[in-house]
Amino acid sequence: MKILVAITGATGALYAQRLLDNLNPAEHEIHVVLSSYAQQVIAVELPDGLKLRPGVQTHNLKSMNAPFASGSNPPDVMVVVPCTMGTMGRIAHGYSEDVLLRAADVTLKEKRKLILVPRETPFSLIHIKNMELLILAGATILPANPSFYTGADTAQKIVDTVVARVLDHMGIPNQLAPRWAEEKE
Ligand SMILES: Cc1cc2nc3c(=O)[nH]c(=O)nc-3n(C[C@H](O)[C@H](O)[C@H](O)COP(=O)(O)O)c2cc1C
Repeated sequence: MKILVAITGATGALYAQRLLDNLNPAEHEIHVVLSSYAQQVIAVELPDGLKLRPGVQTHNLKSMNAPFASGSNPPDVMVVVPCTMGTMGRIAHGYSEDVLLRAADVTLKEKRKLILVPRETPFSLIHIKNMELLILAGATILPANPSFYTGADTAQKIVDTVVARVLDHMGIPNQLAPRWAEEKE
């Protein structure tokens, strides 16, 4: 699969890091793009910075010289994780002034999978209306709402309960978090 992981300036950089940790560049073509504010949040939340596995391709936000800027070469799946309310609003309303927003626009119009992982709380009506529009346009809104029945007891394991659902929706087999009513080996 051709996968684009877009990281924006919402709290929860660890969600992006754990998703990237669980995507294998030997199996998939993996592209990464960061919004301008993503770096600021990563600096606060990931002491060692964002770690990319060898083979992952990064792209400049302000250059349209990336394959997924065109409908002729869309990603199979694009995940925006974590997704700010600002980026969500811009995607919902068709702003395409940088390659991250353009890629989301391309992903939707080419009927590929767009997964947005917001972290915000609480939501305003503007956020909800933007989510409604995005769902009607074919996107999946997968909030970073961890589950606790798994017994997750570290930040990473708690984050992984969300990342496992993202991988499920991407169509990537994973055993990242225990599943409900699954027999333990
Ligand atoms: C530490 C930190 C945490 C933030 N968390 C959120 C958040 O959870 N959700 C959100 O919508 N914005 C959050 N913001 C604000 C966004 O970074 C800001 O609205 C920015 O303009 C978003 O730009 P982007 O969508 O291009 O990344 C946060 C900012 C900082 C510095």
